[in-house]
Amino acid sequence: MYRILKKRRLNPTVTMMDIYAPLVAKKARAGQFIILRADSDGERIPLTVAGYDREAGWVKIIFQIVGATTMSLDKKEEGEYISDFVGPLGCPTRTEGIKKVCIVGGGVGCAIALPVAQEFHKLGAKVHTIVGFRNKDLLILEEEFKACSDKLTVMTDDGSYGRKGVVTEPLNEAFESGERYDEVIAIGPLVMMKYVVQTAKPYGIPVTVSMNPIMIDGTGMCGGCRLTVGGKTKFACVDGPDFNGYEVDFDEAAARSSMYAEFEKREREAACNLFKGVK
Ligand SMILES: Cc1cc2nc3c(=O)[nH]c(=O)nc-3n(C[C@H](O)[C@H](O)[C@H](O)COP(=O)(O)OP(=O)(O)OC[C@H]3O[C@@H](n4cnc5c(N)ncnc54)[C@H](O)[C@@H]3O)c2cc1C
Ligand code: FES
Repeated sequence: MYRILKKRRLNPTVTMMDIYAPLVAKKARAGQFIILRADSDGERIPLTVAGYDREAGWVKIIFQIVGATTMSLDKKEEGEYISDFVGPLGCPTRTEGIKKVCIVGGGVGCAIALPVAQEFHKLGAKVHTIVGFRNKDLLILEEEFKACSDKLTVMTDDGSYGRKGVVTEPLNEAFESGERYDEVIAIGPLVMMKYVVQTAKPYGIPVTVSMNPIMIDGTGMCGGCRLTVGGKTKFACVDGPDFNGYEVDFDEAAARSSMYAEFEKREREAACNLFKGVK
């Protein structure tokens, strides 16, 4: 059992928790993830390691409440326990040789982007960050990004905060004004990552994307997280989650990600009904 040391609501649908898991905290690195079960009869879900303290033994997770498991996780309070917490899993984000990086985060993808930006900052790289949200109410982690970015641009779709528009606009402007990043790292919705790749392509800038397909075991055994990358089958849980954005088949990934939509809807409705009874 893993104790919830701290819980904070970042916006109406995103929650941050520090979980006491010293063995995971000891080994975790930016870009890796854990798999948890909120309760012993629950489903396994992957969440990114959003931070850690090796001394104190905690690991930070930031999750969006989208369905049955994230709903039951969000119901838990500080001092309560979650059943299983396994990791760190996946490959850490590659940082070698990167002196100037642009991190592009979209929505809850910013939870995954933050530890990556912090890692580059810690290593002394120049970090430009562009984050995008649908509106001001969904904005998360602005102060944290400010602290680790040499330049931060906040975009909202409706212009209710920061600049109005999508993340690829300031990215394109940066390229046009002569910025030459060693790498762009895009983390967010599939469509956003696909357009970041298209924006960077004319300038020949390498793009890494973080892929979050449906995962079951997280150890390369089940094949549930398979993707086509460079014409070959890759497993996001062991070969990724980071991949060369130019090689990812985004359309296939999008089709696979909605495969279980009907089942997820049914579970979500069942969980909603359950919680209605509790409150
Ligand atoms: C490597 C990785 C890291 C992730 N990191 C984060 C994170 O830091 N914060 C965050 O909010 N979300 C993250 N996700 C997505 C998160 O796992 C899903 O939101 C979660 O599983 C939803 O479960 P649910 O039961 O609440 O919702 P459901 O109703 O079951 O599903 C809602 C949507 O979540 C996705 N999903 C469902 N089950 C899984 C699964 N087993 N594996 C992957 N995706 C699934 C699907 O797109 C689905 O349509 C990550 C996913 C992966 C693969
Ligand atoms: S989650 Fe099973 S192979 Fe990746």
